[in-house]
Amino acid sequence: MAELIQPVRGMNDILPDEEALWALVESAVAELFERYGYRRIRTPVLEKTELFRRSIGELTDIVEKEMYTFQDRNGDSLTMRPEATASIVRACLSNGLLHNQQRKLWCSGPMFRHEKPQRGRYRQFHQINIEALGHAEPEVDAELIVISARLWEKLGVRMVLEMNSLGTPESRTNYKRALVDYFGKRRSDLDADSIRRLERNPMRILDSKNPAMRELVAEAPVLADYLDSESRDHFECVKTLLSDVDVGFTVNPRLVRGLDYYTRTVFEWISDALGAQSAVCSGGRYDGLVSQLGGNETPCVGWALGVERVIDLMRVSGWDGGDTGPDVYVVAVGSEARRKCFSTAERLRARVPDLTLVMGRPGGFKAQLRRADKSGARYALIVGDDELAAGKLSVKPLREDGAQQLVDFDELVTRLGREVGTTQ
Ligand code: HAM
Repeated sequence: MAELIQPVRGMNDILPDEEALWALVESAVAELFERYGYRRIRTPVLEKTELFRRSIGELTDIVEKEMYTFQDRNGDSLTMRPEATASIVRACLSNGLLHNQQRKLWCSGPMFRHEKPQRGRYRQFHQINIEALGHAEPEVDAELIVISARLWEKLGVRMVLEMNSLGTPESRTNYKRALVDYFGKRRSDLDADSIRRLERNPMRILDSKNPAMRELVAEAPVLADYLDSESRDHFECVKTLLSDVDVGFTVNPRLVRGLDYYTRTVFEWISDALGAQSAVCSGGRYDGLVSQLGGNETPCVGWALGVERVIDLMRVSGWDGGDTGPDVYVVAVGSEARRKCFSTAERLRARVPDLTLVMGRPGGFKAQLRRADKSGARYALIVGDDELAAGKLSVKPLREDGAQQLVDFDELVTRLGREVGTTQ
C-alpha cells in the first residue's frame, strides 16, 4: 500500500461533526456585526512580508520566529498572514477606502503562525476580526468591547475582560527609558531574547512567554505611572461607558499585547477554562498604524477572536456540538422503491425548501431503519412494496412517540412544512 501523507503539524481539518458549532459562531458574528453597522471585507491570505515587519514590529515573537515566509517564483518575499489587522489597513489604503472617510469593517478567515502546537494554539487557526478605522472617540473603543460582550451572551460563554492603556508613543518614551534602566540593572538575569530587545523594544520583555522572566517582569515599573493626561482621560471615558452598560472589567497594568502597533486602549477577554491559552479575544487601539503604512494619520481600534478557542469554550460550557441530524432520512427497500424515492425526494425538497433530507444507502429494511435512527433524523420516510402498491409513503417519527402513518405526498408536504416552517 502507498504511504499515507500526513497533515502539516498544527494545521487541523475541521470535520463535518464540528461544523454545526463553527456555523453557529459564524452566523452569530455576521448578524451581530451587521446590526452595529460593520461591513465585511475579505483580504488575501498572502501579503508582502514587509507589511507585517512594518506593522507588527521587527522585534516581536510573531515577526522574529513565527511567520511562514517564502520567496515566490518572482523572487518576492511573501508571508502567510499571521493576523488580519495589517492586511485590512493595507486593503483600505490600496483601494482608497480611507479618503476622508471612516470605515467599520469585519473579516474572518485562517491565520498562520509557526508556534509550538498545543491545546488552543495551532499553526493554522481562524480569527474573526472587527475594526473601526478613522475613529478616535472612546465611544468606539467601548462599542467594540460591548459588541464582544454581546457575542459572549449570544454564545452562552463567560469570560473576564482585562484592560489597560498604553498611552501615546510619546508618553511611552519615558516609560521605555525607565524599563531600560530597570532591566539594564538586572541584565544578567535576562534571557537572550530580552537582552536583544532591551535597547530597541524593552516593552516586549514584559510580554515574554518565558516563565523565568515572570518575577523580573512583576517588579518592573508600570506604564500607568507614565501615561499622558489625554490618554488617561480617554481611558477613563472608555471605562465609564462600559460601566454604564454593565460590562465588567479589571484594569491589568501589565497588559501590553504582543504586537507593536498598539496605542492607548488594549484589552483581552480571558477564560480560566482553557488551560494555558487563555486569551480568547484581544485587541486595542492602533492610532499610528495607517500612517506607518503610508496613509494619513487615522485613529483606529479593533479586536480579533480565535474561533478555535471560542468553540473550545462553548464545548466546556456545555454545548454538545449542536449537530442535530437531518429532518428526514429516506428508507427505500427494493430497486423500484429506490427509483420512486429519488424523484419523490426531489419533489419534497422543492416544496419544502428548508427541509434537510438524506437518502439512505440500500440494504434490508431493518438495517436501513437502524441507520436512519443513528443519523439523528426526526423522521424516517419509508417506501417498500406496501407503499408502492398503495401509491403512498410511510412516515415514522424517530425522536418522539407516535405511530408510523401512511400518507399521500400532499399530506406529507403539509406535515413537514409545519415542522420545518416553510412550504412552496
Ligand atoms: P492576537 O492577540 O495576536 O491579536 O490574536 C487574537 C486572537 O487570536 C487571540 O486572542 C487568540 O484567541 C487567537 N490566536 C492567536 N494565536 C493563535 C494560535 N496560534 N492558535 C489559535 N488561536 C490563536 C491579533 O492578531 C490582533 N490583530 C488583534 C487586533 C485586531 N487588534 C486590533 N484589531
